[in-house]
Amino acid sequence: MAGNKNLNAAARDKNDEFYTQYGDIQRELNCYYEYDENFLRGKTVLLPCDDPEYSNFTKFFAANFGLYGLKKLISTSYASQRKKFIYKPMRNLFDDDDLPQFDASKDFYHGRIYTLEAADFANVSHEFYALKNWRYLEGDGDFRSAEVKRLRDQADVIITNPPFSLFRDFLKWILDAKKQFLIIGNINCITYKEVFPLIKENKIWLGNGMGRWISGFLVPDGYELYGTEARVDEDGNRIVATNQCLWLTNIEHGRRHQPLKLMTYADCEQFHPKVKDTGFQRYDNYDAIEVPATDAIPRDYDGVMGVPITFLDKYCPEQFEILGHTSANDLSPAVEALRTDPKNRNRGLINGQIKYDRVLIRRRQQ
Ligand SMILES: C[S@@+](CC[C@H](N)C(=O)[O-])C[C@H]1O[C@@H](n2cnc3c(N)ncnc32)[C@H](O)[C@@H]1O
Repeated sequence: MAGNKNLNAAARDKNDEFYTQYGDIQRELNCYYEYDENFLRGKTVLLPCDDPEYSNFTKFFAANFGLYGLKKLISTSYASQRKKFIYKPMRNLFDDDDLPQFDASKDFYHGRIYTLEAADFANVSHEFYALKNWRYLEGDGDFRSAEVKRLRDQADVIITNPPFSLFRDFLKWILDAKKQFLIIGNINCITYKEVFPLIKENKIWLGNGMGRWISGFLVPDGYELYGTEARVDEDGNRIVATNQCLWLTNIEHGRRHQPLKLMTYADCEQFHPKVKDTGFQRYDNYDAIEVPATDAIPRDYDGVMGVPITFLDKYCPEQFEILGHTSANDLSPAVEALRTDPKNRNRGLINGQIKYDRVLIRRRQQ
């Protein structure tokens, strides 16, 4: 047991050093830009877990500084000494040891900061070279430090792929300061008690895709690649595709307002492969029907439905209302009222068999 615990902790700490690919950042950001070209205009963007030497977030925002009309870009990194695994992608943007500000005595203990302001941007011939203008932070670059908190407070928007093991703390750190944000998280984060109520209240939402939408993360040369989910691309980058991640945000994008095209209750029962054999079943312990797939949600059913968590990727708040989820953690009045046995707060049961955690939804009257 203790051995398993250590293995899980080691895996989690290694995930903290997964790096995001340029194409995945671009694909997500394009959706916000297409929805509103001015979504970042005149704003200060902070990338708080992003080393200017090799972060594709830093590279992407420096390259798009003019297009997005940013006021200021700030990118900070965490000192190597603090990392549980010291490695970085081998194919760096440039070799920082040759830069005049490089100081071997500081490099291990200090984070770095790179800033780009509208005035400087006008004077650099190529955004890529401007990335070399970083300096050392006073401290280690921990996002929880007073130094990085001050940077957070002057930012309008916080964007990054944060350390997986500190996801809850990181989100709280953003929300405490009431900032706009766009971050990567594990799919499981949707059901965290710090996240789900905010999705339900339509204060935060999923970005433009989950699972394969993020095509994979760059891992260093020392990282062992295994299984079909790992590859080396044509440039020699080592990539793991976890199929387990999503973008979480409170920045508007168009896709979340597109209603799902759905079948009627009668058609689902007649044709949907996951419903036609049994028809829609009712839970033993919730006053709701079990819907086993998002595309099996009947468009004309007025009662409460339990739908897979992945529904949230397609959730349109104008089409459905979220009441809660079938977890013992959800003690909201709306979910308590649906429990047919107040002593049994299990996930949904059908004929005594426990189902996955489901989101409880109801259609909005059109
Ligand atoms: C998942 S990686 C992603 C890096 C980069 N944002 C990207 O997407 O390519 C998270 C980074 O946060 C760093 N980190 C870990 N703990 C941190 C902390 N407390 N404060 C700031 N950065 C931290 C890790 O060392 C790692 O470089």
